[in-house]
Amino acid sequence: MMMVRSRRRRPTRQFLEPAKTPVSEENQDTYWSGCLIVAEIIIESPQVRTLRLISPEGGSIPFHFLPGQYIDVEAAIDGETYHRSYSISSSARRIDCLDITVKREPHGLVSPWLCDAVKPGDRLNIRGPFGQFTFTGTEAQSVVLVGAGVGITPFVSMIRTLLDDAWKGEVHALFGFRNREEALFLEEMESLAATFPTLNLHLTWSKPESRKLRPKGRITPRLIRKTIPRWRDRLYYLCGPLDMMDHVRSDLVWRGVPVDRVLTEAFAPPPRDESLGGEFKITFQRFGVEITSEQGESLLETATRAGVMMDFSCLSGTCGLCQARLVEGDVEMMADDALRPEDIERGEILTCQAFPKSPCVIDA
Ligand code: FES
Repeated sequence: MMMVRSRRRRPTRQFLEPAKTPVSEENQDTYWSGCLIVAEIIIESPQVRTLRLISPEGGSIPFHFLPGQYIDVEAAIDGETYHRSYSISSSARRIDCLDITVKREPHGLVSPWLCDAVKPGDRLNIRGPFGQFTFTGTEAQSVVLVGAGVGITPFVSMIRTLLDDAWKGEVHALFGFRNREEALFLEEMESLAATFPTLNLHLTWSKPESRKLRPKGRITPRLIRKTIPRWRDRLYYLCGPLDMMDHVRSDLVWRGVPVDRVLTEAFAPPPRDESLGGEFKITFQRFGVEITSEQGESLLETATRAGVMMDFSCLSGTCGLCQARLVEGDVEMMADDALRPEDIERGEILTCQAFPKSPCVIDA
């Protein structure tokens, strides 16, 4: 008997018809891994760099991706290996290179390495693509992309791809930045919006350098209602700080936008909740290992402590690499974005997000 309770079930995507690129289905279960070469590093703002990656053999990038997906980058720093996920910002129609856009986090480990130590010509081990936060143009007739800071990067890939495809639908991009110096891809987005009538660019500034930059303030539900025409009827994608996404999503849903029309992507793991989990016997049956879990510890952390090596990347419930089947027991999950309804029915869980509520047997 197994039971999975979801604490923060994010809305699942509903597709009106199959996505254009068959690779999307393939990507749900498989990914490419290998090495790409850094061809160029583009300075987007004082803290943000775009790394342009190409195939070592030349020619096309060795995998396809959907706009909105991300890749996992391996970093070897001081003899240790780390993995981090970065959104792809280039168009999915561009096959000669792939861009990832990285913000140098002041207390980060991998992002300063990527922004400051990595040089053109270096090789990066990557895996991907991952993620179901995708928009290809088949899901709706119009879309609202709401992003703040580096959270706009998946939307840049979506916009570039939709315009490359000459998509006939209406795009509303509502982007929030501190000021013009820190605004990402601004010239390109302004120029695209001036050229393509289907792209409507709306900006807001939290700390503008000049009074001419209007409106002043962060992204709020009120700003969305004021800015987006017929806001109730749209499909929303939100990416940025967790508090912005939670606030906007709950307000839209409260005002009648169906919950499955407001999709979110978190760049960071959900905040840790030490009250979750507890001391239970956990069995990893294929490894033949039993261990007692600890308070506040996810099943992935329990597995690592037990020497059961499970794959993982994002630690936020979006990549699906840590997926395993719960054979017996009761778990609570913080997020389950990477799982499809049929996965959940089969008892699949994301071990990085799952906390035991009883003794558990895991098919791992
Ligand atoms: S590590 Fe990505 S979903 Fe768990």
